[in-house]
Amino acid sequence: MKKQVSPGALLSPVPAVLVSCGTMEKPNLLTVAWAGTVCTRPPMVSISIRPERFSYPLIKESGEFVLNLPPAKIVRAVDLCGVKSGKDGDKFALSGLHPVPAAGVSAPAVAECPVSFSCKVKQVIPLGSHDLFIAEIAAVEAEEGLFDEKGKLCLEKMGLLGYAHGEYHALGEKIGSFGFSVRKKPLPKAGKPAHPKRPAPKPAARTGPRRPHKKKGSRKP
Ligand SMILES: Cc1cc2nc3c(=O)[nH]c(=O)nc-3n(C[C@H](O)[C@H](O)[C@H](O)COP(=O)(O)O)c2cc1C
Repeated sequence: MKKQVSPGALLSPVPAVLVSCGTMEKPNLLTVAWAGTVCTRPPMVSISIRPERFSYPLIKESGEFVLNLPPAKIVRAVDLCGVKSGKDGDKFALSGLHPVPAAGVSAPAVAECPVSFSCKVKQVIPLGSHDLFIAEIAAVEAEEGLFDEKGKLCLEKMGLLGYAHGEYHALGEKIGSFGFSVRKKPLPKAGKPAHPKRPAPKPAARTGPRRPHKKKGSRKP
């Protein structure tokens, strides 16, 4: 049975991204968990920012920001940028992160984040505690090491970071891919086992719930 809890922003998991703003000369960054993809064509993202943040006027007045995907290994810096304000000092210096020029915008990207989206604000919608910034992605930059030999971008190589109900998580194992539930499995070639690399499962190594033993004589024909 489910228990009712007070309505709140519990959607999980969500990304915890580093949003950089300002300029290369006067950069700032803040951690944002209320971020999302909102359109495919044109590619658009949203971030929700409280008006009292130091970053708020920097983003609103310039109409630009960079959304950086942090790897799980820099989680301490991600948290720090979410609890310290740029009004009290240089958060790049404080967190040990480095601003680098980003494609197509004056706002810097974060060198330690392997993927960044240069964003141009299209709409600002006041919602209540937060204002929703809807922005078009003007450019995407990704580290060369994230591409495989066929040129496919493999985000799992960077060690993605997630956020769920106040806690940070490193993204776990891959358990499927888009559309796999309806994809036909390729048939094994004649004379070849279906899974050549996978050893045959031992009968004792069963996982998942076991069926209860049936009483003798209760077997259906
Ligand atoms: C995990 C995490 C997620 C956060 N998400 C948001 C968010 O979505 N929107 C927001 O306005 N503040 C968010 N914050 C708070 C800001 O990052 C924080 O107030 C920061 O100090 C603001 O920096 P600034 O004053 O330099 O702009 C988050 C903080 C943390 C730690």
